Amino acid sequence: MPHNGQMKLFTGTANPALGQEVADFLGISLGGVHISRFASGEIYVRYEESVRGIDVFVLQPLSAPVNENLVELLIMIDALKRASAGRITAVIPYYGYARQEKKTAPREPITARMVADIITTVGADRVLTMDLHAPAIQGFFNIPVDHMTALPMLAQYIRGKGIANGVIIAPDAGIVKKAEKLATMLDLPLGVMYKRRPAHNVAQTTFVIGEVDGMQPIIIEDIIDTGGSVEQVIEALLSRGALPEIHILATHGVFSPPALERLNHPAIKEIVVTNTIAIPPERRPANLKILSVAPLLGDTIRRIHQNISVSALFN
Ligand code: R5P
Repeated sequence: MPHNGQMKLFTGTANPALGQEVADFLGISLGGVHISRFASGEIYVRYEESVRGIDVFVLQPLSAPVNENLVELLIMIDALKRASAGRITAVIPYYGYARQEKKTAPREPITARMVADIITTVGADRVLTMDLHAPAIQGFFNIPVDHMTALPMLAQYIRGKGIANGVIIAPDAGIVKKAEKLATMLDLPLGVMYKRRPAHNVAQTTFVIGEVDGMQPIIIEDIIDTGGSVEQVIEALLSRGALPEIHILATHGVFSPPALERLNHPAIKEIVVTNTIAIPPERRPANLKILSVAPLLGDTIRRIHQNISVSALFN
């Protein structure tokens, strides 16, 4: 159904502060929606205003508790569809389950694909997301996906630090392309590490290509979860003579335990993440800087609504 030219933004309970910031950027009020839980734990959603014919955006990162937040998003989309919304865009700043995007052993699921299927089946017309762990996940959807990146924002921030003897570090093969882009943006050399995962949430970093001796590493990640990867990378870099003044850049700060202990490392100068995920004060490691993606998401939402290109936002 084509929308009627009006736009509304609603937020689930996963990151309402980001929803409010995006609404402020757009100069609109957040739409009213009641979300509660029955005693049984089942989720209840009711929109408090009409959405008939409207171009609706519903913001919900799939952060912890991921299954709760996912089902809440699905129920929000279902209610919008049944209330005759003109078009429904799921704004998912952090796409959970993205690290289960392929089978690495027999009889495993591909959960990132399954999540894409249920979001589409329940009624989303489009998806807006950021820095997917694997860019190919975009193709798991048969509806348009605007896949935005925080890389220019992170680059601009770190450029402001004026690190002359910096080296951009890709902690594993999956992030080399992004690290290369960052190195080009900042005109810095690149170092590449090799990581293997012998078990869930266990990282082993065994190899490094590039020169790091006497240099200040800037590690680029998509996600910091338990901090295991970062901890391994730091040890490998220090053993090769890197300076103990390390910056870590990542789009998504998941910070599951024991991230706090692992990231409380004397060689870390600063950890820079964005607010795609709400990070409560008690889950924030020391020396954490949080950049806001609200202007980027707001601008993208405006462009989607007005049907104009979003590609300018990649620079
Ligand atoms: C995996 O390849 C990702 O890019 C991250 O490196 C990883 O998910 C971070 O997880 P953790 O902090 O638990 O090592």
